Amino acid sequence: MSLEWIEDAKRRAALEAVKNVKDGFIIGLGSGSTVAYAIKEIGRMVREENLHVLGIPTSYQSFLLAVESGIPVTTLYEHPEIDLTIDGADQIDLNLNLIKGMGGALTREKIIAAASKRLIIIVDERKLTDKLGRGQPVPVEVLPFAEPLSAREIRKIGGKPFLRVTKGGAPYITDNGNFILDVDFEVIEDPYELNRKLKMIPGVVETGLFLGMAHTVYVGTKTDVKRIEKE
Ligand code: 5RP
Repeated sequence: MSLEWIEDAKRRAALEAVKNVKDGFIIGLGSGSTVAYAIKEIGRMVREENLHVLGIPTSYQSFLLAVESGIPVTTLYEHPEIDLTIDGADQIDLNLNLIKGMGGALTREKIIAAASKRLIIIVDERKLTDKLGRGQPVPVEVLPFAEPLSAREIRKIGGKPFLRVTKGGAPYITDNGNFILDVDFEVIEDPYELNRKLKMIPGVVETGLFLGMAHTVYVGTKTDVKRIEKE
């Protein structure tokens, strides 16, 4: 089956989400290929429509794209409260709980999401699921010093951790200088309990479980965009 619709679906979801951006907003800029469409569109509005916003990027990738697109950037120190964050996701369940982090930016993404009055998620419809974890590992950022211990403790709570590596075989390093364990938990029945257990493990910096954080999701389908609101 042709996958050409996917890029269109991502772009459509991004363009719908950007309609929520208002003049004067502090905007959290998520990471990944779907958000890249949103960042480019916000940049176009800054350059061509005299939109005044400040962006707080969640990764070096987003920082560079924001600068290249003409979005002035700021930091949480200057603006601890963010009006709106637009970000992608790797999986979304029926309660708008998310798995994020396949792009490696989960820790900064969670910090920016937590600092935001509103979190909008943009995805194509392949990311929807009835249960988190089905065919999708949970990325967990860990301190390199602690990785053997963190991986062992993760196995004890039922996960199968795989150290993320680059194409050359070296450990993948996050923007924070840490490692990522991609952990297979199979189907996750209670994501809140799993997140609590993971965060108790020494060396775990952050998990890719984003629970109760998303307010609105725009889902690009083969033909249109669906908007889902948190109940
Ligand atoms: C990065 C993320 C991304 O939002 C997620 O991986 C989705 O990326 P894409 O839009 O490229 O599918 O969590 O850490």
